[in-house]
Amino acid sequence: DRNAEAERLLAAMTLEEKIGQMCQVWPETGELTPAIRDSVRNGEIGSLINCATPELIAEGQRLVREESRLGIPLLIGRDVVHGYRTVFPIPLGQAASWNPELIEQAAGVAAAEARSQGVNWTFAPMVDVARDPRWGRVAETLGEDPSLICSLAAAMVRGFQQERDGRVHGLIACAKHFAAYGLAEGGRDYNRASLSIADLHNIHLPPFAASFNAGCRTVMTTFSEVNGVPGTAHAYLLRNVLSDGWKFGGVVVSDWNSVIEMVTHGHSSDESDAARQAVNAGVHMEMVSTAFHTHLAQLAGQGAIELSVIDDAVRRILRLKLDLAATAENAATAEKSELPGAIATSELLRPRSLELARRVARESVVLLKNAGDVLPLQRERLRRVAVIGPLADASLSQLGCWAVDGRAADSITPLAALQDALGESVEITHVRGAATSYAEDTGEIESAKQAAAGADVALLFVGEDAVLSGEARSRSTLELPGVQPELVQAVAAAGKPVVLVVLAGRPLTIGEECNAADAVLYAWHPGTMGGPAIADILLGVANPCGKLPVTFPKHVGQIPLYYSHSNTGRPSPADYRPLTASQGPDLPVDFQFRSHYVDGDPFPLFPFGYGLSFARYEYDGFELGSSSISSQQKLAVRARVTNVGSRAGVEVVQLYVRDLAAAQVRPVRELKAFRRVYIRPGESQRVEFALAADDLRYFDNEGRHVLEPGKFAVWIGGDSTATLGGEFELTGDGSAEQRPAA
Ligand code: IFM
Repeated sequence: DRNAEAERLLAAMTLEEKIGQMCQVWPETGELTPAIRDSVRNGEIGSLINCATPELIAEGQRLVREESRLGIPLLIGRDVVHGYRTVFPIPLGQAASWNPELIEQAAGVAAAEARSQGVNWTFAPMVDVARDPRWGRVAETLGEDPSLICSLAAAMVRGFQQERDGRVHGLIACAKHFAAYGLAEGGRDYNRASLSIADLHNIHLPPFAASFNAGCRTVMTTFSEVNGVPGTAHAYLLRNVLSDGWKFGGVVVSDWNSVIEMVTHGHSSDESDAARQAVNAGVHMEMVSTAFHTHLAQLAGQGAIELSVIDDAVRRILRLKLDLAATAENAATAEKSELPGAIATSELLRPRSLELARRVARESVVLLKNAGDVLPLQRERLRRVAVIGPLADASLSQLGCWAVDGRAADSITPLAALQDALGESVEITHVRGAATSYAEDTGEIESAKQAAAGADVALLFVGEDAVLSGEARSRSTLELPGVQPELVQAVAAAGKPVVLVVLAGRPLTIGEECNAADAVLYAWHPGTMGGPAIADILLGVANPCGKLPVTFPKHVGQIPLYYSHSNTGRPSPADYRPLTASQGPDLPVDFQFRSHYVDGDPFPLFPFGYGLSFARYEYDGFELGSSSISSQQKLAVRARVTNVGSRAGVEVVQLYVRDLAAAQVRPVRELKAFRRVYIRPGESQRVEFALAADDLRYFDNEGRHVLEPGKFAVWIGGDSTATLGGEFELTGDGSAEQRPAA
């Protein structure tokens, strides 16, 4: 039994060996230096991060197995975030698919590829809630909505871990960054988060809970300070919530150097103090910095850290290692088992994986505009196509940020895919228009305009190179960078139909460009197979079905802008009109004293959940199973969706709820459920959701999970502005039913 095995190992370990398990080391030079080798032999390293090659990983495991006293295998950590060699769309793009099954499969491919190279631990999924697109790491998130993130994060965990019989056959998953990292002030990375207990529990913690419920075995602390305390020493988060509340039995790892950065934060007096604070708060492994290695033995000797706390950390780490399904590299008891002699490259870039990457990329594309049904292109009528823009043939950038093992050479770009799909009968003119997405005028705009003028259609690939999003890539503006706004206007002025395809790591304020173009596809950074996926949509091989997982602002000054905001006592006209009289008076639109801007409108460019299709869907037939439910019941909520277009498609049907009067004011609406339905032209489908009274709970500022009787509004529709809905009542004795926080 694995617990007994962990105890046996623990009992056999010296204090130094125990501390060694709590240290994650980065072979910075790309080699296992003599010092690292000695540390591995002495049992002073529990994990390696970013070990450069499979051969190096194999060598590290060999050293452990053959030359260390206890032969405890290494955890090999790596950021396998949205693929390994086969790169899938960035997580924000995957979230736009609203397709948990597909996302699970994609994570499964990433896990199989990475595991075949010796990696056994990924620092994913990132489950931070992101409501500020200036923050570069929005690209790595699953968007702004806790409920959507919960369902997609759980799918990723299952996909990464490939758990069978309680063993991880894929990669150990790591939910990060605990917690509220996405709230970085001003969108500036690593910045402070300041929030109420209610917001912490209602918005930022549920995706972690969902990840752990799906079996996620590790969690990474946030770099940032949360209400004044760095995440790496946050006893409330790590002890009260995670350990005592959720009974999380897995491993807490710091972020890169985040232990010693607590000195810089102004929380720890020196590195020893930082190590003490981190371990006592509940961090089990230190990533990269060496405060644990240097100070823990002394701190334990002084009684500043209890030995039982160290034992608890090591027990968890050993248990994690034992949970990894047996492979050559993790024979936990140092038996002389075989190492992978030849590194298995056959797992990489399998045709089936590439086909899946193409499908995920297709489903992540969001059609934002399609005036005059310019899309799909009528292939048989095409003679000349202008393919323009710095991202039409940007094989590296289309992989997106955190594609550490992706290779540009594996990418198929939109240009290459269109050339392949259109063949020789169509003349393709390719003009970059700008050297990169962020370049100033490189003198190519005029030729871009001419190419557009001479073509039947201009396909314009703009957006952000991958280096503009990701960690520490915050932006203070959200316009198309560089000369691209001018490029778009120049191409539009050529007078031919313009299809704008945006490849980017975040929502951009592209209102003017959307006005100038006939059709707009938002393709995020779509990964290795991004080109074929986009070509599939342009040419109508696939019908777009992506929906935005984040609100798109019109202006950077509107940020934060998210659909589940508060109504205030004086809502802006952007807030949804009252559904019934019980929701209050409908204020005149010109009322001056509102929560709005005097120099711009408060509406988003595109709302959360929005996305068009080549089909067209109409909603009607809203019905509630009952006008009231008790706290033990479920409410049936139904609507009919009809495809009134001429193509079959998938519609993501969304259900939103508002608690109309609550002790703790609730958002104007919250996503509670969604379903993807495939509908043929002319067909209708009745979609029924079972809304449980329990889904109406929320956390108050004491951290209690309360269920308050009263009236609720509910809507069903194709985005977060849905108007088809009704009201029901949750009955009870009039007092809040309470459950403790965690
Ligand atoms: O996993 C990442 C984390 O998200 C940011 N800092 C570095 C870690 C390891 O690469």
